[in-house]
Amino acid sequence: MKSFRELIYSPETASEEVISKVKTHTPRIEAPDIVKANQPFELRVSVGPHPSTVEHSIRRIEVYFYEEERQFNPVHLATITLTPVYTEPDVKLTLKLEKSGAIYAIEYCSLHGLWESGKEIKVIREG
Ligand SMILES: [Fe+2]
Repeated sequence: MKSFRELIYSPETASEEVISKVKTHTPRIEAPDIVKANQPFELRVSVGPHPSTVEHSIRRIEVYFYEEERQFNPVHLATITLTPVYTEPDVKLTLKLEKSGAIYAIEYCSLHGLWESGKEIKVIREG
């Protein structure tokens, strides 16, 4: 039996016919590289261009944070459930971090499974 982690696609692990889906399914994470501690900032996660039909759509986007120095990771930040036809997989969150780490986004496509990506964010303290 495969481990669940083997069921999550990423540009690094995609092979054969899966490679053709990398560009349209890997979540794009937009956020500053460096933020100030406890200062709100915007995170955008988008997927696509991708269809949004009943038969084929991005149904869910989950966002996690790997926090440096935390004993157990990750921290679940948000789950966005998307209804096909009426929504596009393009969401924004306001985050506030105390420590550096990495944001991970996972999206679920009704035909093409789970796809992940990540982005490091450095937190600086003033003074
Ligand atoms: Fe898809």
